[in-house]
Parts: sequence; C-alpha cells; structure tokens
Amino acid sequence: MNKTTKDNEKKWDKLVLSDVPCGRPKIDLTPKKAKAMLDKDGILGKIKNKKVLCLASGGGQQSIGFALLGAKVTVTDFSLEQLKQDKLASEKFSKDIRIIKSDMRDLSMFKNNEFDIVYQPYSINYVPKTDKVFDEVSRVLKKGGIYHLMFHNPFVQGSWKDGCWGSKWNKKELWKGKGYPIWQPYKDGYKSKTTDPSWNFVNKEGKVVKRKGPQEFKHTLSTVLNGLVQRGFKLIQMDEHTQNNYKSVPGTWEHYISVAPPWLFLWIMKEK
Ligand SMILES: C[S@@+](CC[C@H](N)C(=O)[O-])C[C@H]1O[C@@H](n2cnc3c(N)ncnc32)[C@H](O)[C@@H]1O
Repeated sequence: MNKTTKDNEKKWDKLVLSDVPCGRPKIDLTPKKAKAMLDKDGILGKIKNKKVLCLASGGGQQSIGFALLGAKVTVTDFSLEQLKQDKLASEKFSKDIRIIKSDMRDLSMFKNNEFDIVYQPYSINYVPKTDKVFDEVSRVLKKGGIYHLMFHNPFVQGSWKDGCWGSKWNKKELWKGKGYPIWQPYKDGYKSKTTDPSWNFVNKEGKVVKRKGPQEFKHTLSTVLNGLVQRGFKLIQMDEHTQNNYKSVPGTWEHYISVAPPWLFLWIMKEK
C-alpha cells in the first residue's frame, strides 16, 4: 500500500470517528426508501436474490439498502471504521451482509463472474488511476451484469472550497458575480486541490467539526468512458447531480449545482 492510500485510510477512519455524514449508517431505511435511494429508475430490475458487491462503499448505507431489498450483499472498503457501520446496520435489521476490508483495486478474494451487480458510490476519485478498479470490476461481474459508478464531474472538480456539500453549503464568496472558479488542470490522475484542505461538517451534537480531507484525484471523462468501453461495458444511462434552480442565490448549494453538476453517475452493462 502506498503512502497516499495509507494516509487516506487513516483520514477516513478519523472522519468516521468524528461523525462525518457519509459514515452514518442508514438505520431508518425501509425497502421503499432503499429502492428510491439505490435504483430510482428501476434500471436494476428485480434485486431479490441478486449477488451485489457494494464496492468501496462502507458506512452502512448502500449495503443495508440492498439487503433490505433481498439481495445477497457483500461490501468492501479499506476503512475499518466505515465497515463497522455496515455491521451495525446489518445487526439492527438482522440481515446478513458479507463485510470485507480491502482496497478497491484488489478484489482477488472474489471469483470471476461472481456478482450480478457492482455498485460503487463516490469513491473512485480517491485512487489516482481507474484501470485496476475497472479490470477487477469487469472480472468479478457476470455477463449482462450492471456496474453503477458515481464519480466527480471532472470539468468542475475543485471549483468549491472544501470537502463539504449539501443544503448547509454556503460559499457566496466563491461566485464573485462571474462564475465558480475552475483553476486546476484537466488531467487524469491530477491531485485535486481545495483552497481549504479541511472537511467542515456538523456532528450529531450540532458542533462544527474540521478534519483534514482525504486526497482526491481527477478522472477525465475520456479516461472513464474509454476505460469502460475497452473492457466491454455498454452505457445504459448517465445521470447528473444537478437541478434547474439558476435563479437561487449565487453561492448556495442549489445555485452551485444548477451551474456546475458536481457528480456524474453511470449505469453500465457488461456485454453478453
Ligand atoms: C464518500 S464515501 C462513499 C461511501 C458511503 N457509503 C456513502 O455513500 O457516502 C467514500 C468511501 O470510499 C472508501 N475508500 C476510499 N479509498 C478507498 C480505497 N482505496 N479502497 C477502498 N475503499 C476506499 C472510504 O473509506 C469511504 O468509505
């Protein structure tokens, strides 16, 4: 494991112990909410009894969601603290979830064609290259299986100030009446920078917490799409995290995402 990965792992453990929102297990889920969260357009079809790999997806959100929908779930992550949240959620709902600590680039513990679905929430931007992840996903996914991948929109990555997001986000100073600043090179593997290296979030007690954020990397659109096409994947659908609210106050989250969709989501099928 290289230094950046080790460093990121430690930072993730610390973030989770500090109650970062993406380390909070979803213990209020119902099957209906789980379906809306994971597959609102019904692309995955029948999920019951499907073998699902939640990849680099610890935190007790996606894994328990799929388990509530009747899937046979495996979750991997390199952060033990994140995986503890999956365990907690599985116990709360009395659902079996296979929990494995591993780097997203090493899925050697799984057989070829083992899964019907590989579901990867926002995590591929924590590794500098996508190739090993795509190699492994295409190996462990069955033909006709679906890979769901969320990643940072490379055209706007780094145009916000710190690692925070969501409705409490308020960065009026960023807008300056002109636009959100895009100032970093468009280059695959580029170590993304933020003017404030901390993640600032509010914990359960309502206190503002400041923690050093993990290193993120840029993945260009051509790297992602060509990497998938070259491995025999076919694009089924692409979604963007955006909304039509340009008239909202500049610097608010609503305005930011109306101008600069931060995340892209791909639904891709391994060709038969
Ligand atoms: C933003 S969180 C996303 C997961 C969370 N379930 C969610 O929905 O918010 C990113 C996850 O990627 C994991 N991660 C980052 N780098 C990783 C790596 N190299 N290998 C495995 N997991 C990694 C982190 O530990 C963290 O759980």
